[in-house]
This record gives sequence, structure tokens and C-alpha cells, in this order.
Amino acid sequence: MSFSKDFLWGAATAAYQIEGAYNEDGRGLSIWDVYSGFKGNTRYNETGNVAIDHYHRVDDDIAIMKELGLKAYRFSVSWPRVIPEGTGKVNEKGLKFYSDLVDKLIAAGIEPIVTLYHWDFPYALHRKGAWKNDDSSEWFLEYTKVIVDALSDRVTYWATINEPQCVLGCGYLGGFHAPFEKAQTDDILIMGKNILLSHGKAANYIRNNAKKKPMIGFTPIGPSFIPKDDSKEAIEEARTRTFGTAGERFCFSLSYWSDPIFLGKYPDELYKDFGDRVPEFTKEEWALVTEPLDYYGMNIYYSQGLHPEDGGYPENRYQGSPENHLGWPVAPEVVYWSSKFLYERYGKPIMITENGMAEHDWVCLDGKVHDSYRIDYTHRYLLQFKRAAEDGIPLAGYLHWSLFDNYEWAEGYTQRFGMVYVDYTTLERTIKDSGYWYRDVIESNGENL
Ligand code: FCB
Repeated sequence: MSFSKDFLWGAATAAYQIEGAYNEDGRGLSIWDVYSGFKGNTRYNETGNVAIDHYHRVDDDIAIMKELGLKAYRFSVSWPRVIPEGTGKVNEKGLKFYSDLVDKLIAAGIEPIVTLYHWDFPYALHRKGAWKNDDSSEWFLEYTKVIVDALSDRVTYWATINEPQCVLGCGYLGGFHAPFEKAQTDDILIMGKNILLSHGKAANYIRNNAKKKPMIGFTPIGPSFIPKDDSKEAIEEARTRTFGTAGERFCFSLSYWSDPIFLGKYPDELYKDFGDRVPEFTKEEWALVTEPLDYYGMNIYYSQGLHPEDGGYPENRYQGSPENHLGWPVAPEVVYWSSKFLYERYGKPIMITENGMAEHDWVCLDGKVHDSYRIDYTHRYLLQFKRAAEDGIPLAGYLHWSLFDNYEWAEGYTQRFGMVYVDYTTLERTIKDSGYWYRDVIESNGENL
């Protein structure tokens, strides 16, 4: 078996990374607006104030998606564009932007996939303690209702929270993403609880109120391991490491987030490490957290532990090993193994909701962008996804990260992930070779891989 007929071939973006127009049409501020430009927070103190100006160029951008033959497009809604203060008054102009976007995508024959939260937390609610505040899941529910009530007559696919690992791990443990804080473990445990509950309340609301029958998922990331050989022991070791909770770094792990949602419990390891410091859910809350989902959104870029015994080289690096411009290892097999491990543990069809690579592309003398390495990277990763399909793992789609070059968070504009090149001075777009290559893959439903 290969990719199914209804497999969703698409690409993904996130609001703050592409929209710009940060202070237009009544938009409120997010933590990224406020903190990204502060000296030392991001690589060159760059912000998403303009980003790739998608807010104003949305029609041209959809024309590009059409040219590439995308079947699906995953975008996120900026919470403060729709509710400037996070709760309370709705900004109709902001909401209309997304409603129009959905209409335009559908008119272009592209399935919209809506992510409710991709890191641009409203600044006004950040001032009230953000996820540490026990009201935060109610704030999130209020926001979800606005979006679902407005879009669910046309939107089928939903993703609740993008990479909660990064929300806490990068934002509050490492402190290298907004709000650039370093929180105590007990606070991270409380924030984690509130994020899980926010996810649950949102999923539950969508399930019971969406006008079109919804397909709901969430989109975590996490450390993924490739077995060092084909032996049973090595496979077991990779599985154990993939689902380990990693001590104080638990918020970066997969199981800390996915076990509660899909299995209705925190991993045992978490109790071993933190005992009764783990904040418990009530029975009613568990019922929300475990709202059944339709797909597992796998954001996947690289693996760890390809050579765990390789003393001198941490993770899966070895002398001269391939890596992208960010230093992330190129490790295609991770797609096969993670699909397998995640499906076996959680039993949901897998949708790759993000995968791609950063390079420092440029426009060549002939006016084109020759990103052969991105083609090769994507080709290799997709072959491993195909292998998963051939193994009988149900797959729902593949969304390349990213459609456009864009604002790469702490890295500012230094990392280009797009299949479409963006000149940040003129904002001109150029489809890269990989974009045309991907168009052929989509056209053949992956048969040409
Ligand atoms: C993921 C994020 C996405 C982008 C890619 C490169 O962790 O979800 O916004 O930054 O990494």
C-alpha cells in the first residue's frame, strides 16, 4: 500500500511567522511582538512586524499555493488579531481576515487546516500570568469558541496547540523563545496542566459544536530515536527513549503531553521524578483532556540517538554527518520509526504536520533558486513515510514546513525553510526548485518517489 487517494499533500505556516501587519486593523499585541525585538532575545533582534507581509499579499500567496497544486494548507490564527486583549471584545476585522482566507482556499480547491495556537500568546493575558493562571484554559476556550463558531461551517481539519513542548521548553525552561523566561519546575508543571486542559476544552468544544464534522488533532514535537540496528533490543531501546520523560526536561518530552491526551494518564516516570508535585486533574478535567482525537499531528525534523554509544558525538551526529543550516541532523528514518512508535502507542492515523529543512538559499544568476538539498531531504523523508504506509500504518497527510521562507523565531530571518523564496527587502516571492519538484510529487500522489 502506498499513499491513499485522500492523502492530504500540503504545506504549513504560522501567523506570526508570515503575516506582519502587527498593528493594523485593530490587532492586539502578542508576547512575540513585545519581546522579540529586545536586545539579546533573538539573533539580530528581528521581529515579525512585517514578516513576509502575508496579511496584505494573501491573494498572491494563494495563487502560489494553487500553482504548486497544494491539496491542503495549514495556517494558524493569531489570537490577539482576533481578540486583541485575549478575552472580551472580538476584533471583527481580524476575524474576517481568517474567514476570507478560508473562503479563498476553498475556492482554490485547497483544504484549510486551522491551528488555533502557534505561540503568539496575547500580551494582555501574559500580564495576568499566562498559562500559570488557572483561568488560562477558560481564556483559551473563549477564544476557541470565537474561531470555531466563525469558521467551522467550512473548516474540517483542526489542530489545537502547536508543539506544547516548545511553548514551555523554549519559552520557559530554555528561555530562548517568547516570553524569554526561566520558570521553576513546579510552575512548569502547573502551566503544563493548564495547556493540556486548554487543549481538552478546545477539542471538546470543536467536537460538540463544529458545524461541519471535524477532524481534530494536536501537533506536538518531541525527541525521536532511531534504533541503532534491526535487533529487537535496539528497537525497544529506541522506543523507550522516544517515550522517556527526561527528568527536569519533561516538558520537552513526547509522553508528558501525549500520554494524558491519548492514554488518560501521566507517564509513570513523571511520578517517579516529581511525586505529588505533579498537579492532578479532577475526573471532569480528565474527561476533557482525553477528548478523542482523529489524528496525531507529527511535527518531525530530525532524530536523536542514532548512535547512542557514540561517546564523542551527542545525539545522532558523527564525523561529517549531514545537517541543515540550523545544525539539525538529516535523519530520514526517523519518520518511519516515529510513525510506527506513535501509532503503536496511541493508535491514531499519523499526519506529518511539519517537516522540512533550513538552508541559506539565494536567487541564482538565472533568477531561480536551486535547492537540490531540500529536494533530496524531502524525498528521503517521504520515502520513509511511504515505508510506514507500506507497513500498514494509517497516514493522513504530509504538510511541508514551510510553504514560504519566514520569520524563524529566535533565529529571525537567518533560516530559510520555504519551498518559496522570499526577498525580505522587496517581499518578492520566487518558487524554489523544491516547490516545482513537490508539485510533481503531489500530482503523482507520491508514486514518483
Ligand atoms: C517548529 C515550529 C515552526 C518552525 C519549525 C522550523 O518547531 O512549529 O513554527 O519554527 O519548527
